[in-house]
Amino acid sequence: MQGITNRGLREVFGTTVVPDALFTEFVRVRPGSATPVTNADFIEATTQVPGIALVVQVIGCADEGVVQATRELVSRGVEHINVNMGCPWGRMTSVLAGGGMFRAPETVEPMLRELRQIVPGSLSVKTRSGIDDERQIFDVIPAFEAAEIDFLVVHARTVQQKYTGHANHELTREIVDRIGMPVIANGDVTTVAEAAAVMKQTGAAGLMIGRGAIADPWLFNRIRGSAPDRPEGVQRRRELARYLSLLLTSYEAIFYGDAQILAKLKSVVALIEDPDQRRWCKALKKQKHVASVRRLLDTALTDDH
Ligand SMILES: Cc1cc2nc3c(=O)[nH]c(=O)nc-3n(C[C@H](O)[C@H](O)[C@H](O)COP(=O)(O)O)c2cc1C
Repeated sequence: MQGITNRGLREVFGTTVVPDALFTEFVRVRPGSATPVTNADFIEATTQVPGIALVVQVIGCADEGVVQATRELVSRGVEHINVNMGCPWGRMTSVLAGGGMFRAPETVEPMLRELRQIVPGSLSVKTRSGIDDERQIFDVIPAFEAAEIDFLVVHARTVQQKYTGHANHELTREIVDRIGMPVIANGDVTTVAEAAAVMKQTGAAGLMIGRGAIADPWLFNRIRGSAPDRPEGVQRRRELARYLSLLLTSYEAIFYGDAQILAKLKSVVALIEDPDQRRWCKALKKQKHVASVRRLLDTALTDDH
């Protein structure tokens, strides 16, 4: 997730709740550049939590740029590559990148076939259901199959929908039924009950969880049955304070200055939506100094009523 799943956050997740795999923010390919991947992106793409598969997501036009960037990433030790065919933002969709790739489905197969030759680990695609019509995904599925990608992550919303409405997991089910490769269902899983319902409804091979996990990292363990249900009130705040304290420490090690560190932390806080934590989250977002955020978190950690 852009702006969110940096190496600092991945370190916290990887050492506390241990998801089966972690995905990077997207690595933006710079078309026509002699250095199609920035140094900052190389650092992100090659910083792993030991023992957890790191999937590096690339986004770019379905052309030689993506292939060249992937070659460079692989030469620096990257194993798993995921191609973004879902980003709904104009900068991507105005060219044939992200969700914009749906406008030129014929370019997808040759690109994936080339990547298949280069990527030593898993090659996967993360896709939306289409640009403005959720049946468009069925135009590109043959390309995924022909290129023999290892798995497909489906966020069953169209590009046009952005984040409105709900992911259509009936469509996810149809895709699961239609293709042989493992499908990972994505979209709107924020509780254990929703996780179970989506798995049952779709028959997917697994779940990718975005916003729900950023707001509640223990969701992974709650789903696995190794953590109790999400608490409420003071207990929930204490849990959040523990998580945000770990993040803050991690961010202090890799980002520079209070403004940058807090901007990163606040983009996580923005995804926490518990009604009874709203005022506390608002107070966190108002702070301008790391020290004052740390004080608020410490107070919540020791508050027992
Ligand atoms: C702030 C933000 C950044 C995101 N960045 C990416 C990204 O870089 N690559 C990607 O494939 N999806 C990205 N997404 C989409 C999510 O991965 C996911 O598909 C979507 O939020 C639906 O899943 P969820 O309901 O579990 O969050 C982003 C979503 C948000 C809210």
